[in-house]
Amino acid sequence: MNLRQHIPDDDPELKELILLIAEGGKKIQSSFIKKQGVAGTQNIYDEEQVEMDVWADQVLGEDFCNSGLVAAFASEERPEVINCEKGGKFSVVMDPLDGSSLMGINLSVGTIIGIYAGDNPLLPGREMVAAMYVLYGPLTTVTYTVKKGVHEFALDAEGEFVLQHEDMKIGSSKIYAPGALRKDWLPGHKKLIEDLEGQGYKLRFSGSFVADVHQILHKGGMFTYPGFIGREQGKLRLVFELNPMGFIVTQAGGSCSVGTQNNLDLTPEKIDHRVPVYVGGRTEIELAEKYMKGD
Ligand code: AHG
Ligand code: MN
Ligand code: MN
Repeated sequence: MNLRQHIPDDDPELKELILLIAEGGKKIQSSFIKKQGVAGTQNIYDEEQVEMDVWADQVLGEDFCNSGLVAAFASEERPEVINCEKGGKFSVVMDPLDGSSLMGINLSVGTIIGIYAGDNPLLPGREMVAAMYVLYGPLTTVTYTVKKGVHEFALDAEGEFVLQHEDMKIGSSKIYAPGALRKDWLPGHKKLIEDLEGQGYKLRFSGSFVADVHQILHKGGMFTYPGFIGREQGKLRLVFELNPMGFIVTQAGGSCSVGTQNNLDLTPEKIDHRVPVYVGGRTEIELAEKYMKGD
């Protein structure tokens, strides 16, 4: 079964948008070899952009605005929400290329997408109607949910995304990612990591959020990127990273949090709203919230 056959037909325009984004993922995957440079610019987070950050953002943004399906989109690579003249039924949030600093050493990177109904992309994550990510690794995969389970497809030699895993449920292995620098951890996070390590959790951290969370989705455990001394709100973005990936993990039986509460209930304060990140199994998220609330 391929992606087109699998996506339910009850919302044809949502199905078309998901397929459009999957096709965008194929364009990005085939362009890495040609676009290995740096852009020489910085995004609004003062992070150096690689050529592919900018290009992926442009390609997907054009696809959205040419489709007649997207009223507005927000991108990690743009300071403001972009309104599409043609309009459309949906709004999209995206991290066009997550983990892009790893491109140069050929580690897995990805495109993260959240989809809302209407013309406002800065809504609480719980209001998403769909979320997906494209992971560019040994396989190029699309993992999506329209709130009817989480399903993963891989690109085959004929250019089709074929079903690999249907109705995925988060695993139960003990792996974790600690995030930030140990010397800067706040007390609650330090206690959490020591608790996990005391239970025998093994460290798995690649520097690509989407790839690290994909591993947690399959195997279980928890990814964290905490608030830390000097940046108590953390590094990662609520709108483009934690909400879409947290939504997908939740649909697979896991959970997500900013440490003190579920991030899906938060209304983004601004497009570049950074938050502490905890995403993974329910048990691990409950433990994280216990420590981060100081219980
Ligand atoms: P992006 O490439 O979209 O800016 O994301 C990079 C993020 C995230 O993917 C990863 O978990 C984190 O940066 C790694 O940060 P450190 O290099 O500080 O560990
Ligand atoms: Mn990112
Ligand atoms: Mn990015």
